[in-house]
Amino acid sequence: MKLCIDTADTAQIRHIYQYFPVDGVSTNPSILAKTGRNPYEVLKEIRSIIGEDGELFVQATARTAQDMEREARRIVGELGEFTLIKIPCVPEGFKAMKMLHREGIRFIGTAIYTAMQGWLAAKCGAEYVAPYVNRIDNMGFDGVQVAKDIHDAIMGSGFDSGLLAASFKNSQQVLELAKYGVKAVTAAPDIIEGLVKNAAIDAAIDGFTKDFEGLCGRGMTMADL
Ligand code: G3P
Repeated sequence: MKLCIDTADTAQIRHIYQYFPVDGVSTNPSILAKTGRNPYEVLKEIRSIIGEDGELFVQATARTAQDMEREARRIVGELGEFTLIKIPCVPEGFKAMKMLHREGIRFIGTAIYTAMQGWLAAKCGAEYVAPYVNRIDNMGFDGVQVAKDIHDAIMGSGFDSGLLAASFKNSQQVLELAKYGVKAVTAAPDIIEGLVKNAAIDAAIDGFTKDFEGLCGRGMTMADL
């Protein structure tokens, strides 16, 4: 399963890339708005951090298929072929997806709250489909189960697509989908760091350090003996 970072905060991207095995960066218009910067300036900085072949997800903001297609061509022209265009899974979006598919521009289906949205996007040729797990939970439904249903529907239909599950609020939601074998998840930096934030882990490692230093001396490691 791929793991992406859902942020446009370049300091956080640098930090997470340094410490965690991540595969790409996803953004949306709200995430870009939080930076207060020109979107292309931020996205080009992200591109320089993740390399020219890192997967970067950028959302089309237009409301018609023709305009989304025009945006997609501009975004890929600015940020390279490893940039995937996020297209909302509504009728205009499906129309845009069919256009992008014909042109060979990579795209994903986003703003997914129901299994059928995901299935339709996959049928349009989306490389990934992005159910909003925690937002679905907040509506009183089971976000992880919706994501699993989409995974099953894609597999059942034999589409060449998979999940980029998004909108996580805890480690358990991520783990459930990892166990299920989904293609990718994208999570905010605090969720990624939270995957291993645990007082028991820190206490265990502190104990090992204390015992070893008791044996060999303060600051000593196996490299120093
Ligand atoms: O891109 C959509 C997804 O990232 C939403 O996440 O945390 O705003 O629900 P969140």
